[in-house]
Amino acid sequence: MLELTGVTSGYGRTTVVHDVDLTVPDDALTAVLGHNGAGKTTLLRAVLGLLPVRAGTVRLAGDDVTGLAPHQRVRRGIAYVPQGQQSFGLLSARENLQVVADAYGRAGRRRTDEALDLFPALRDLLGRQAGLLSGGQRQQLAIARALVTGPRLLVLDEPVEGIQPNVVSEIYAAISALTSAGGLSALLVEQHIGYAVEHAAEFAVLASGRVAHRGQGGPTAALEARKALTL
Ligand SMILES: Nc1ncnc2c1ncn2[C@@H]1O[C@H](COP(=O)(O)OP(=O)(O)OP(=O)(O)O)[C@@H](O)[C@H]1O
Ligand SMILES: [Mg+2]
Repeated sequence: MLELTGVTSGYGRTTVVHDVDLTVPDDALTAVLGHNGAGKTTLLRAVLGLLPVRAGTVRLAGDDVTGLAPHQRVRRGIAYVPQGQQSFGLLSARENLQVVADAYGRAGRRRTDEALDLFPALRDLLGRQAGLLSGGQRQQLAIARALVTGPRLLVLDEPVEGIQPNVVSEIYAAISALTSAGGLSALLVEQHIGYAVEHAAEFAVLASGRVAHRGQGGPTAALEARKALTL
């Protein structure tokens, strides 16, 4: 679904991400791990087109999208859930979903229903101002909003950062359900080794903007990832 080849990106004169190769297979999860400042968010921004790629290519389902603007990538099926449980804080949870759904007509309404089936607890909170939801609820809302665009690839930046454990498992269960149902792949960035590595098809450890280690996900992958992260 996604293939990065030699992706190099950064800010101004500073190069942050160097020569990254990474793939997200169809209907599977790829996890990128790395400490604070390793370049994880920068890499995701390059995938989204929010930062220019200085060298290398980004391919989505076989098409080169390296030169496309962010909105064109969204139209081709990439959805982004940024770091920090972002929502329109003054709007209700319902309005947060509607602003996206309205752009997609009937499909938007159907996908809103599907997203709420995935996070049923949100249904009772639709009238509440998003800024007054808990961090976990806001993250579920942010993921639901991304799903309303009907993505083929969901890009998540530290989706469980600072969220209480019971909601963490709900969020991961939802991501698993989506990828295993088919039609959706996910690229997920994490600082901590947990569920993501175990459930990923592949994982990569980023250090100083370079891939320092890569491996196959699975039950024994956590140990391997932990070793790579401490190097
Ligand atoms: N807007 C920016 N302008 C200049 N430098 C930036 C900018 N954003 C990030 N950086 C720098 O790029 C490097 C990587 O930052 P990035 O946010 O990608 O790390 P990260 O792996 O996502 O970290 P975290 O786990 O803390 O979110 C850091 O050295 C950071 O200071
Ligand atoms: Mg980050």
